[in-house]
Amino acid sequence: MTDLSVRIGKSTFKNPVFSASGTFGYGIEYSDFFDISRLGAVIVKGLSIEPVKGNPGPRIFETASGMVNAIGLQNIGVKNFVSEILPILRSLDATVIANVYGKMEEEYAAVAAILDDAEGVEGLELNISCPNVKKGGIVFGQDPIAASKVVQAVKRETDKTIIVKLSPNVSDITEIAGAVEEGGADGISLINTLLGMVIDLDRKKSILGNVMGGLSGPAIKPVALRMVYQVAQRVSVPVIGIGGIMNERDALEFMLAGATAIQVGTANFINPRISEEILDGIKAYFDREQIERVGDFTGTLKT
Ligand SMILES: Cc1cc2nc3c(=O)[nH]c(=O)nc-3n(C[C@H](O)[C@H](O)[C@H](O)COP(=O)(O)O)c2cc1C
Repeated sequence: MTDLSVRIGKSTFKNPVFSASGTFGYGIEYSDFFDISRLGAVIVKGLSIEPVKGNPGPRIFETASGMVNAIGLQNIGVKNFVSEILPILRSLDATVIANVYGKMEEEYAAVAAILDDAEGVEGLELNISCPNVKKGGIVFGQDPIAASKVVQAVKRETDKTIIVKLSPNVSDITEIAGAVEEGGADGISLINTLLGMVIDLDRKKSILGNVMGGLSGPAIKPVALRMVYQVAQRVSVPVIGIGGIMNERDALEFMLAGATAIQVGTANFINPRISEEILDGIKAYFDREQIERVGDFTGTLKT
């Protein structure tokens, strides 16, 4: 039997299958479908310091091979999460990673400080794809110096495991990955959505209320695989692969490319039990192939 556990920073996760932020609610919703404590980690919807209402609708649209969304980071705010949701997640025995975002460095640090005291949060995943208001619209995830500084600011506030989630909307993802590793990230997850757009020809109108949105699902998998491969060559911290993982074969491909763990996103909208099925599929594959540890498989791609 394969030892499925993986280590990221100070944390050991029971297996490499995590839910992707924003596609799995706060996790509780999915406990009607399966035992969410089976997952390596439940990564909850992005949390900010104050509650956020999000963008006007329509906010989601299905494309030929995925979907575009412009939710606008709607969430209940970190304090409500800690008081209302976290106790339920703890009672469900879920391993929780909190996804964090802010408009400026100080906001990331403030959210991290609150979560540092919260029992039941194993680690933080910093979503650095948001507008940096102080720098007049530059996105943290597109600026290596800003990206590194936000990690350092969060590290001053918490000892918890810090994963930094990268945006693919850059020309050289390895530059940003290198910067966040230097800033002290314990792990790097990628990719977030690709900026996209959908149009209704009959109405001659863009479909999303926000005009543009993030493309996810099978359409982005080859881009995500390429970026995971490139980043895994560049950094020495664990990489977590995300992007169009619909079944265990997709997940295993990401692991071959260098991912220590993977996240399941858009697939949850099609089948709410898919993460558990992917976990069982990976387990069966490793048993069949007589792979003893996840690390024996990660990054073994032949090129
Ligand atoms: C509806 C929706 C909401 C999302 N919200 C967040 C979020 O709050 N924070 C975040 O870091 N990523 C968010 N994402 C990005 C996903 O976590 C994931 O990185 C992306 O969808 C690519 O994976 P996939 O192709 O498997 O969906 C969201 C994605 C979708 C589709």
